[in-house]
Amino acid sequence: MTTTTTPSLSDTYLSYIGGQFTKGQATSTFDVINPATGERLVTLPDATPADMQAAIDAAVQAQPAWANTTAAERADVLRKVAAKMHAEVDRLARIMTLEEGKPLAEARTEVAYAASFFEWFAEEGRRIYGDTIPSSSPDKRILVIKQAVGVTAAITPWNFPAAMITRKLGPALAAGCAMVVKPSELTPLSALEIARMFDEIGLPKGLLSVVCGTDAPALAKVIMDDARVRKISFTGSTEVGKILMRQAADTMKRVSLELGGHAPFIVFADADLDAAIDNAVACKMRGMGETCVSANRFYVERPVYDAFVERLAQRMGGMRMGNGLEEGVTVGPLIEPAAVDKVRRHVADALAKGAKLLLGGETSGEGVAERGCFYPPTVLVDVNHTMLVTQEETFGPVAAVIPFETEDEVVRYANDTPYGLAAYYFTRDVGRVFRLAEQLEYGILGANDGIPSTAQAPFGGVKQSGLGREGSRYGIEEYLNVKYVSLGGIQK
Ligand code: SIN
Repeated sequence: MTTTTTPSLSDTYLSYIGGQFTKGQATSTFDVINPATGERLVTLPDATPADMQAAIDAAVQAQPAWANTTAAERADVLRKVAAKMHAEVDRLARIMTLEEGKPLAEARTEVAYAASFFEWFAEEGRRIYGDTIPSSSPDKRILVIKQAVGVTAAITPWNFPAAMITRKLGPALAAGCAMVVKPSELTPLSALEIARMFDEIGLPKGLLSVVCGTDAPALAKVIMDDARVRKISFTGSTEVGKILMRQAADTMKRVSLELGGHAPFIVFADADLDAAIDNAVACKMRGMGETCVSANRFYVERPVYDAFVERLAQRMGGMRMGNGLEEGVTVGPLIEPAAVDKVRRHVADALAKGAKLLLGGETSGEGVAERGCFYPPTVLVDVNHTMLVTQEETFGPVAAVIPFETEDEVVRYANDTPYGLAAYYFTRDVGRVFRLAEQLEYGILGANDGIPSTAQAPFGGVKQSGLGREGSRYGIEEYLNVKYVSLGGIQK
């Protein structure tokens, strides 16, 4: 039985600016495409720089009053929207599957993940503590208070159309900030559904705007040029992150950048192989491999290499590829034809340099035109470090496996990348768990865990994977200024 019912998609999806769903100043439109079928889902007005400016102006008006509300009031708003997300999970998940492609069960998981950031930051907002510091003068006291940074902006990606917004919007609103969101033009519908829920619960107008348009550089420029926007949070490529960081310098905006990754997944011979396989499949295939924390390079210690690759290929080969709305589908399409082209290029490069296909790749007649944006789960062996799959993010369902002989060798391989977002390793040796935790140059480590992401833990990278942390108690600090008050005249 299939369940491909399409939720009623409003034909009037519009940007949300200053508390209104509006066509704004748009003079053209853009289509949102279902990557599983290539069909148009809806057409939206293409927001202009003037629309972005209007959103910022509204945020500037709304933010001071919001910062003066109590943490409990702000928490109440976030909790109400989280509750709505849970209540509407079926609708939201279907919309997400339609616009992004991930299978329905995974989309439901993302809706819950997205809501968890509102729930978490509703509580963290109540724990924005200051400090008192012993003074060096008996006549003075030192106080430290924390205040909202002000108006903030978020530029968010298509791979988690809801969660990458709530991970930024949750702490922003909890801290007392306003936020202007520019979602990916490939997946604006989940973003607009979030805006709709805030609108329904009566969020003061202007505090949240969702500006949907295709000219990302022009829309971003408005944000980056406006000194009243005090912070930008971006999830996306390292290349774009660097541009935004340069642009932020002119107005000295705070930046949080969650950028590319190239995660190693290391399996030692002493690992629980069942757990390693389960986690390898989950980590590699989450979002069809289109996540920044997806395992890219699998390093397997020689004694368990043959068993690992055989079982990995068997498990990945058992997955069902298709339209994510169909029951039993566990692998959806990639986001767009260009994404499939990139995966093809990486696989072709690996094969040309001596790798072998143990599973997947494409057979003729299975191209994008015939089958939507699909690329099958693929396992490559005889991989070496000259291949693109070991250097660039593939962002697809390709597992490239490399054997290793010693711990020192694999740590060297793992760290030999400009990226430093997530790394995974499987071992039963407690000493090694700690050694690698210290030696691996990454912001997130999954030690015997392939899916470490959760609202209460700090998410973020080192090296060229970015700056700042999202989620956790660290995540709200990104939206707070530290102010020092020196209080004199204490003594009579
Ligand atoms: C990402 O791919 O950018 C986020 C993944 C996650 O939250 O686990």
